[in-house]
Amino acid sequence: PLVTIIGAGRVGSTLAQRIAEKNLADVVLLDIVEGMPQGLALDLMEARGIEIHNRQIIGTNNYADTAGSEIVVITAGLPRKPGMSRDDLLRTNAKIVVEAAKNAIAHSPNAIFIVVTNPLDVMTYLAWQATGLPRKRIMGMAGVLDSARFETFIALELGVLPADVKAMVLGSHGDLMVPLSRYATVNGIPITELLDAATIDRLVERTRNGGAEIVELIQTGGAFFAPASATSLMVESILLNQSRLLPIATYLQGEYGLNDVVIGVPCRLGCGGIESILELNLSDSEREALQTSAKSVRKNIERSQE
Ligand code: NAI
Repeated sequence: PLVTIIGAGRVGSTLAQRIAEKNLADVVLLDIVEGMPQGLALDLMEARGIEIHNRQIIGTNNYADTAGSEIVVITAGLPRKPGMSRDDLLRTNAKIVVEAAKNAIAHSPNAIFIVVTNPLDVMTYLAWQATGLPRKRIMGMAGVLDSARFETFIALELGVLPADVKAMVLGSHGDLMVPLSRYATVNGIPITELLDAATIDRLVERTRNGGAEIVELIQTGGAFFAPASATSLMVESILLNQSRLLPIATYLQGEYGLNDVVIGVPCRLGCGGIESILELNLSDSEREALQTSAKSVRKNIERSQE
């Protein structure tokens, strides 16, 4: 199989490495900057003998080289600088993502699209609109990362193995995300049995602020290792038809009482894309939080089209 990654920046190039070194697919790395994706691809190719795999990694500035991709991942666009919110990136990234989506679909009409560029939910909506794809074939990555951050903070607090912690974060990728604390467990034991409410609130707050915490530390850009891992998990679930149940930003048509908006909800992800959306029986406050989150995405969709 072939995976195209548009935007060979920090997230895109790290994702190319993960996909090739996990032996999932060949990779085309496309960027607007000339020479850079070619150089990165050559660098990754030179690691193959050491990492022991035989995947091709091609760097290009030309969409013709992306033809016939099974999956297209869009990471092109600007990342945040300290003090910026994801929404500050709205107009610049909207243009980049729409152009990338249109160019990519022209060469890979059967591909499944994963959008990573921020502000994530709005960019996914715009890419869905630009491609005209059925909603099951175009989605955004955010919830897998936000959930991994929540799980990390729970694991650190309890001193347990991160892989033993399972949690899900729904909603938009931003300050209004909806971490579902009451569903979070350590090997099946609810964290509400293990931590007091104030501690859980603190971990939820750190999760909401997880991206900004890293931007403040790095200063010159945002997170990319965990974002690349989260995206590669979605790529894997599609290519290996694993039907994993993951929080994914998807276009809603009445689910959770929401319409014509993209937001993170639990979805089964397999070789055809999103196979189904799971409607959880949310509490009133969770439902309200999801609605608030959806409202802010809707507002930004409208702003992006002004
Ligand atoms: P980066 O600046 O390292 O890479 C972005 C790349 O996009 C650059 O190489 C740039 O040349 C390229 N680019 C710009 N315009 C382009 C165009 N028209 N066509 C093709 N390529 C183009 O940024 P980084 O850190 O890789 O982040 C990429 C995006 O992903 C940002 O918007 C960031 O906010 C977002 N992000 C989203 C996450 C999520 O959970 N959804 C997590 C982490 C980052």
